[in-house]
Amino acid sequence: MNEQDINEYPPLEKIPNHVGIIMDGNGRWARSRGKPRLMGHRAGVENLRRVLRAAVELGIPTVTLYAFSTENWKRPEKEVRGLLRLLEESLISEVDELHKNGVQLRHIGNLDPLSANLKKQIHEALELTKDNTQLIANIAFNYGGRQEIVEAVRNIIAEGYTVDQITEEVVSAHLYTAGLPDLDLVIRTSGEMRISNFLIWQGAYAEYYIAPVFWPDFDKAELYKALQTYNQRDRRFGGLQKI
Ligand code: IPE
Ligand code: IPE
Ligand code: MG
Repeated sequence: MNEQDINEYPPLEKIPNHVGIIMDGNGRWARSRGKPRLMGHRAGVENLRRVLRAAVELGIPTVTLYAFSTENWKRPEKEVRGLLRLLEESLISEVDELHKNGVQLRHIGNLDPLSANLKKQIHEALELTKDNTQLIANIAFNYGGRQEIVEAVRNIIAEGYTVDQITEEVVSAHLYTAGLPDLDLVIRTSGEMRISNFLIWQGAYAEYYIAPVFWPDFDKAELYKALQTYNQRDRRFGGLQKI
């Protein structure tokens, strides 16, 4: 960090281990400029690059980004197709740079409905970046929290666990996020106060922060504000405040 950066973003006492981001408001961002919704999604993808850089600079080790939910298939076909195309384009244009910057890409969700070509590209990106350690960027694409739990239950039964063997640890280990820490902080942009089926198990004791700006306008200063608020929270986990 350079000096200006240290003045602008003084080091914070607590940095969350795992931040979830519900990247919301692309459509409204575009509409407020008289542009088609897809332009907002394009601006949203570009912003992702900025925010990942900011996350590295602020020392956040793991982020999970909600990019497409299991419910987003309900949108008009044209928008869904546009979002899939954007995923494909950004894999091609961004992966080398992310790899150079030490970002480890991961995916959570169900890739089955995607084309064979897109699946192959995703697997290649995950394979290329798997040993990077600067930042884990976990992309939730075709992800739904309930669907994730249903799939975990199915796998637990298929693996022959007995009733007595089912614990919170066993359930956690069968989720897409197995091996990652639970969420400390969830940020949702665009002022909406909803979970929208995002990491419902892993966020059981997360702190929640609602940013007033649309996702394409969420920058390092906004991320820093979220971290400052997180630092003011008193996390009791059901116990009593430390005095
Ligand atoms: C978030 O922006 C991106 C996705 C859900 C894919 P939206 O598309 O939900 O934008 P708004 O909420 O309609 O403005
Ligand atoms: C949540 O946003 C999903 C993503 C950001 C990918 P939505 O815009 O789809 O959620 P709702 O419809 O407002 O709940
Ligand atoms: Mg939305």
